[in-house]
Amino acid sequence: MKKYTGIIGKPLGHSMSPVLQNSAFAYHRLDIVYEAWETDLTELSNRIEQLRKLNVLGFNVTVPFKESIMGLLDEIDIHAKEIGAVNTVVNNNNKLIGFNTDAKGFLQALEEDGGFHCTDKNILIIGAGGSSKSVFSTLLREKPKTITIANRSIDKAHKLIIENHVKDIEINILELDELNSLNYSHKHIPDLIINCTPIGMRYTDEEKISPVGERVISEKSLVYDLVYNPMETELLKIAKKKSGKTLGGLPMLIYQGAAAFELWTGKYPPIEIMFEKAKNALSINNS
Ligand SMILES: NC(=O)c1ccc[n+]([C@@H]2O[C@H](COP(=O)([O-])OP(=O)(O)OC[C@H]3O[C@@H](n4cnc5c(N)ncnc54)[C@H](OP(=O)(O)O)[C@@H]3O)[C@@H](O)[C@H]2O)c1
Repeated sequence: MKKYTGIIGKPLGHSMSPVLQNSAFAYHRLDIVYEAWETDLTELSNRIEQLRKLNVLGFNVTVPFKESIMGLLDEIDIHAKEIGAVNTVVNNNNKLIGFNTDAKGFLQALEEDGGFHCTDKNILIIGAGGSSKSVFSTLLREKPKTITIANRSIDKAHKLIIENHVKDIEINILELDELNSLNYSHKHIPDLIINCTPIGMRYTDEEKISPVGERVISEKSLVYDLVYNPMETELLKIAKKKSGKTLGGLPMLIYQGAAAFELWTGKYPPIEIMFEKAKNALSINNS
């Protein structure tokens, strides 16, 4: 019997997850299909009940449900619980178990594709939503010197810090507007700037916008945009001119997706094929 997996969130027009997961299922000749299930907040609980069906192996969760989904699942893996966000759900005989593969994908991409190690570095995170939770709790384990979080709603940034019981690392919080104001000057020049907002994402009103201006980026900063469609966002275009050091969201997408594939199938993910198919689809999409 054909099995199903997919992704829930809204919007999903930009998502490359169907391309990379279907390429991995085809590689292993598995009769599994990955679909995009665009879902409104009001439909979320009904959608989850539909997905308990036996022929659904599991699914991914994206913007804006990575936190709100947690209360609708039967069990949360300890690592995802610590982070406070779920991006992958496994259906184990109608029991829905939440995992977080974003954290692993984020760090693997930063180290392997960005060549960056966080120990003793100054880091600026933009955003305090579901992906920031994964990013922030991962970074804390890597012992950076300082972390600054800039978010539109400052309360959410404070909550992130309280939930993580931070010790021994200097943390600063800013409103995003404050970061972008003309009066802003860095307390700590960032070695790494990470965009964890959807600003710059394709098929949205903010596609042509960068979350920060040129003056926030220093000559030494690596700029890491979690947004992967388009491959070169407005933020990365600015960073390319200013520091020349950029990392897009595609490697993270592949690594988090590979970890999800392994959870659903127990099989080795064909990472190179997943990369190639997603890159090709993005190139067509971006041309
Ligand atoms: N490459 C990958 O594998 C990967 C993995 C995960 C996520 N992502 C991408 O990362 C992005 C964020 O995802 P998420 O799950 O963290 O989303 P989310 O939970 O909805 O959080 C979004 C964050 O962005 C802020 N934000 C949203 N729109 C804004 C705007 N117009 N101006 C200022 N701030 C704004 C929100 O601020 P408030 O707190 O004030 O609402 C919030 O902090 C998405 O584009 C997603 O596709 C990529």
